[in-house]
Formats: sequence, structure tokens, C-alpha cells
Amino acid sequence: MEQGVWKCMAYQDCFGSDILMLTDPKALQHICQKSGYEYPKDNRLNEITRLSAGDGLVAAIGHAHIRQRNVMTPSFSTTRLRDYVSLFQRTASKVADKWKTEFFAESDGPVTIPVNHWLPRATLDIIGEAVCSYSFGTLDNENTELADAYANIFADSLLIPSRIDVLFKATWKYFPMRLLHFVEYLPTREYRRFRGSLKIMKRIGGQIIDEKIKEDTPRKRKDIVDVMIDANTSFNPKQQVSRDELTDQMATLMLAGHETTATSLNYILWELAKRPEYQAKIREEIDTLRNNLTRRGESEYTIEDLESMKYTVAVVKETMRLHPILYHTTREAARDDIIPLSEPIKSRTGELIKNISISKGQLVLLSFWGYNRVPAVWGEDADTWNPKRFLDSDVTRNTNVGLYANLLTFSAGVRGCIGWRFAVLEILSFLVELLEHFKFNIPPEKLEIMRVPAGAIMTPFIRDNMHLGPMMPLQVIPIQNEYA
Ligand code: HEM
Repeated sequence: MEQGVWKCMAYQDCFGSDILMLTDPKALQHICQKSGYEYPKDNRLNEITRLSAGDGLVAAIGHAHIRQRNVMTPSFSTTRLRDYVSLFQRTASKVADKWKTEFFAESDGPVTIPVNHWLPRATLDIIGEAVCSYSFGTLDNENTELADAYANIFADSLLIPSRIDVLFKATWKYFPMRLLHFVEYLPTREYRRFRGSLKIMKRIGGQIIDEKIKEDTPRKRKDIVDVMIDANTSFNPKQQVSRDELTDQMATLMLAGHETTATSLNYILWELAKRPEYQAKIREEIDTLRNNLTRRGESEYTIEDLESMKYTVAVVKETMRLHPILYHTTREAARDDIIPLSEPIKSRTGELIKNISISKGQLVLLSFWGYNRVPAVWGEDADTWNPKRFLDSDVTRNTNVGLYANLLTFSAGVRGCIGWRFAVLEILSFLVELLEHFKFNIPPEKLEIMRVPAGAIMTPFIRDNMHLGPMMPLQVIPIQNEYA
């Protein structure tokens, strides 16, 4: 297949094998939604996931995945999410308070704040509470061991890999998974960094779980680990979860659920910093939300309050469209297959084809980034940031591909993100608390932000200043208002 523009394209992996890259909506829908487990993750992705997140849900395969997903799904139900919203509100409001005391105690600014240093600490505190009711206290600098272990983990271990490592990873498809597990003991930076942080997480996680198992008074509000421990008392042996699995699941959620959300928030604040008019619209919606709360005599907002903020929601969707944090994923065909296309493309021989025939073992790259910018779905201005596309018309009417707003940012199907609504509500809460108290601008130095792929994570850096590490500096100015 040679042609593609945005639809599909074959490119060469190391050692000359083809990878089929897809952005075509129908093809992606076929693989993500209609094929169930017929397109499992390939060895390379599986092992990298296992190295970074442990043997939890992200790395689980086959029946183990089905069982683990069944055990974890109730933790992300609307009922559970209602409890988490108050946690999001409290933590986001704490960030606002911290900024006020740390940066604006003496003057009203403006101050340039590297927001990417703050947001992952806040989202790590949130995930600690939600997963195991544990207060990591990273925002309070009480216990930074875990925050340090996870800080910039993908940039430190996967950014600009050495040629040898790229070649080495290309050989992984030839090894059985069991043998591949030994790569974690390699002494190079990638493997050392992953091994080190996972070890810390498992040690801390193991202690938390032992404490929890000893607890004999059931708590009113259950966290994610409680729900999994409950599954152990279930009569159904298929649902049982071992202590090791609980620890791995904690490590998985800590990793999958904090830097992803924090990095998305970085990009949302960055896009808003360029456009004060959108900030003003969001503040109007925050005013309405606060007035509604006052009328109801309540101080905590609900899922419905957050989801009714249509401009704010459109800003979140649009930024997630343009800046999907995980910009692609890979899969391997478990059998020969015919992948349908939404529009015909020209093959290498010049023939117009409506389907692509592939053989068992074909590596397929699902480009979330590419699909999220397909003009046929999102319009001719698909490359520009324009939240109005989610307000004015139903841009998603012709397709049904992604989990949220028809985007592939959270992937889709049996391996779609289990925490997508958790993340969206968390982000909305941060926007309420931060935009209510602060204006955001691009710093006067006009540093150019680059989005750089670090492993699977699209990470912000300042052009010509990569040595500073991941960076999102924004100018912040406090707002005096009646709620401040
Ligand atoms: C903006 C934030 C987030 C983004 C963009 C995101 C994106 C994704 C994507 C694209 C996948 C599929 C990866 C693949 O198949 O290769 C995924 C899977 C997953 N995500 Fe998220 N995620 C986010 C937040 C969260 C949160 C907050 C949690 C948990 C609290 C979470 C937990 C997971 C888990 C456990 C999986 C594996 C699901 C499975 O394989 O069954 N994610 N996420």
C-alpha cells in the first residue's frame, strides 16, 4: 500500500517488515470496536507496558484481561465517580491556594509558573486517594518519594532512544513473552528507570494493601482497592484477586492515571493562555455554576454541574482532539483479516481498493493523532484549535469510533481507557478552580513549546531548551473575585 495521505500507509519497521498505519475511521472502528480480542497488543508494546506499569490491567492479556476488567469496571461507575468529584474539587482548589501563598503572597504578579511541575503532583495525590485512600501528600511536599519516582518517567526513559535500543526492541517480536520479561534487568537507562520506580510503587503499594487487609471496620466510601478486595470475598473464584495482582493494579493505575491527565491539562491551559476570550467564556460558566450552588445551598459541584458547562467541555474536547497524549498504539493481527475502509485508496499497483487484506501477524499502528485530524470527520480546519466545532454542529455525526466525543484520545473497544470519565471530570474540576482564581497568558519571552514524543506520551518541551526537561511555563495572574 503506498498511498495514504491521512487514510492509511505502510512504512518499514527495522529489518524491513511493514507496519500498516491507519487513520481511516472505518478501519479503526473495525479494529478497536468490532474485532474484540482479534487484534492484541504486540510483544513490544506489551513488554514496555509491563516494564512501566507492572502486570496490571494495561499489560494483561486474553482471559486475564477480561477478568481484571470485570473486577475493575465497577470502580469507574457513575456512583463511584460522584465521590471522586469532591476529591478533584478539593485537590484542584488546594493547587490554587498553594499558588497564592507561594507566588502571590507579596504581590499580585504576574508570575511565570512551570505548571507541568505542579499538575502531576496534584493528579498523583488524587490517584493515591481514589485508588487506595492513601494521602501521598506530594502537593504538601510531605512524601515526594513516589512523585520523584514517577516525575517525567516517560521522558527520562523513552525520549530519543539509542539506535541500538530501537533495533533491540524490533527483535522482541521473535521472543516469547516469558523470555522477554528478563529485559527488565538490563542495566541501561530505560530499564533501570522503569525498574526503579515500579519497585518503589510495589513496596509502598504492598504496605498499603497489608494495612487495608488488616482493617476490620468497613469504610463508608470505598476506594478502587477496596472494590478489588471485595471481589476476593466473592464466591466466584474467577473474580479472585491475589495480593501481588492488587499491587500491580495499583502501580498500573498510578501510572496510567496521573501523568496522562496532568499532561492533557498542560495543553488545555496552554491553548487557553493564547486565547483570553475563551477564558472569559469559561469564567462566565463558572459564575453560573457558583450561583447554582448558592441557590441550592451547596458548596460541592456534581458531575451534572461540570458536564453542563458547554464551552468548558468543548475546550476540553477540542484540546484532547488536537493533543492526544497517547498519540498512537500498536496491535498485531491474530488471524488473516480484511480491513474495510471508509473511502477507496490507491494500492501500490495503482488499483482502487475498498479493503486491505492482511495476514496473521501483521503489525498495525492505530494513529490516534492522525484520526483526530481527519478532515472528513472534523472539517477542513482539522489542524487548528477551534472548540466551536463541538458547539455549532455535530462534527461526529458520520462516524462512531472513539470513546469520548468520538475522539480516539482514550482509544476504544475492549482495551479503551477505563478511566476516561474520571480523567474528564478531574480536568473539568481543575479548570473551574484554576480559571476562577487566575488568568493565564503566554510568558512574554514567547518560548516556543514543542510537543515531543517520549515513548507513547506527547510531552511539552521548550525549543532549544530540551536540557531543561519537560516544561510548560505559563504566565499566571491572580484574579480578585468574591469566591477568591
Ligand atoms: C487524559 C487522561 C488519559 C488519557 C489520554 C488516557 C488514554 C488512554 C489510552 C489511549 C488507553 C489505551 C492504550 C492502548 O491500548 O495502547 C488507555 C488505557 C488505560 N487507561 Fe487511560 N487515559 C487517561 C487517564 C486515565 C485515568 C485517569 C485512569 C485511571 C484512573 C486510566 C487508566 C487506564 C487503564 C487501566 C487502561 C488500560 C485499559 C485496558 O487495557 O483494559 N487512564 N488510556
